[in-house]
Amino acid sequence: MRVLGIETSCDETGIAIYDGEQGLLSHVLYSQIPLHADYGGVVPELASRDHVRKTLPLIKQALAEAGLTAADIDGVAYTAGPGLAGALLVGATLGRSLAFAWQKPALAVHHMEGHLLAPMLEEDAPAFPFLALLVSGGHTQLVAVEGIGSYTLLGESIDDAAGEAFDKTAKLMGLEYPGGPLLAKLATLGDPKKYTFPRPMTDRPGLDFSFSGLKTAASLVIQKEGNTAQVQADIAASFQQAVVDTLLIKCRRALQQTGYKRLVIAGGVSANEELRTQLGIMLGAMGGKVFYPRKAFCTDNGAMIAFAGYQRLAAGQQQDLTIGVTPRWPLDRLSPI
Ligand code: KG4
Ligand code: ZN
Repeated sequence: MRVLGIETSCDETGIAIYDGEQGLLSHVLYSQIPLHADYGGVVPELASRDHVRKTLPLIKQALAEAGLTAADIDGVAYTAGPGLAGALLVGATLGRSLAFAWQKPALAVHHMEGHLLAPMLEEDAPAFPFLALLVSGGHTQLVAVEGIGSYTLLGESIDDAAGEAFDKTAKLMGLEYPGGPLLAKLATLGDPKKYTFPRPMTDRPGLDFSFSGLKTAASLVIQKEGNTAQVQADIAASFQQAVVDTLLIKCRRALQQTGYKRLVIAGGVSANEELRTQLGIMLGAMGGKVFYPRKAFCTDNGAMIAFAGYQRLAAGQQQDLTIGVTPRWPLDRLSPI
């Protein structure tokens, strides 16, 4: 079975074709980051309009790169939530309509399920069950994963997501949007012990997170010490270490609680080298292993949507003819396959 995947939930148009036997046949991505950079964040209406311009040409490109035509596609999967309503509607409308025109089944994919399953696109794929740490621009979640669709939410951020905290702190330092990767780069030049930032909510039991206080801590340092290159690098390194430490502490707790030995990290922040390295060391010491997607599949992409859609379509699930999106969609509401 060959599935066309469409991702338009935020500021990336991602298209891919996944084949159940041959794996990923093609994937193309268009990033709107330059479009939103001047505004310091995603402008939803601009995002929707740009998805309208880019989605069909990218679908044609993905088909051409795979050497396929529409007749070779057996099903269409599109992100239906969570995300920006207008942006989601572009992918959902096109995806649902193409499937109808091609007389093939369609499937509405949960964006975070896409992220969560992305490491399974790699050669060294994790087996079930595993613990998933989902760290993106909109979500920070710890999920016990027993199988596809069998998800138990163990903890999540009560305010800012980890990626959001990276972006907001980067903005305070004058870095461009999205500042997460730029802040991580600056951190390599700084001293992670220079400033003591809080490790929020680690001093009490539980698996929830809170990252909104970190940007306040960073802004206080900037006010006091100025925004010189060295201060910036030291703030970046100290801030990153505080986030990484916090995530490490909660992951260790969740692994102890579940007894799982496999940890999956996914979502944009899982591209962070320091996080990958330090989690790798921790899991090694615990006799476990950490799994993550290749860098291109950490941030939003069509491949993870084609893959997640394939799993459900191959199991016989499909959408009715309604064109619908679910901008707020709890992950643990999904049905198992
Ligand atoms: O998963 P994603 O592409 O979009 C959402 O679904 O939100 O994640 C984007 C987030 C942004 O906040 C971005 O700054 C962050 O991931 N990010 C990083 C890194 N690369 C991307 N944060 C820290 N270090 C990185 N290397
Ligand atoms: Zn995402």
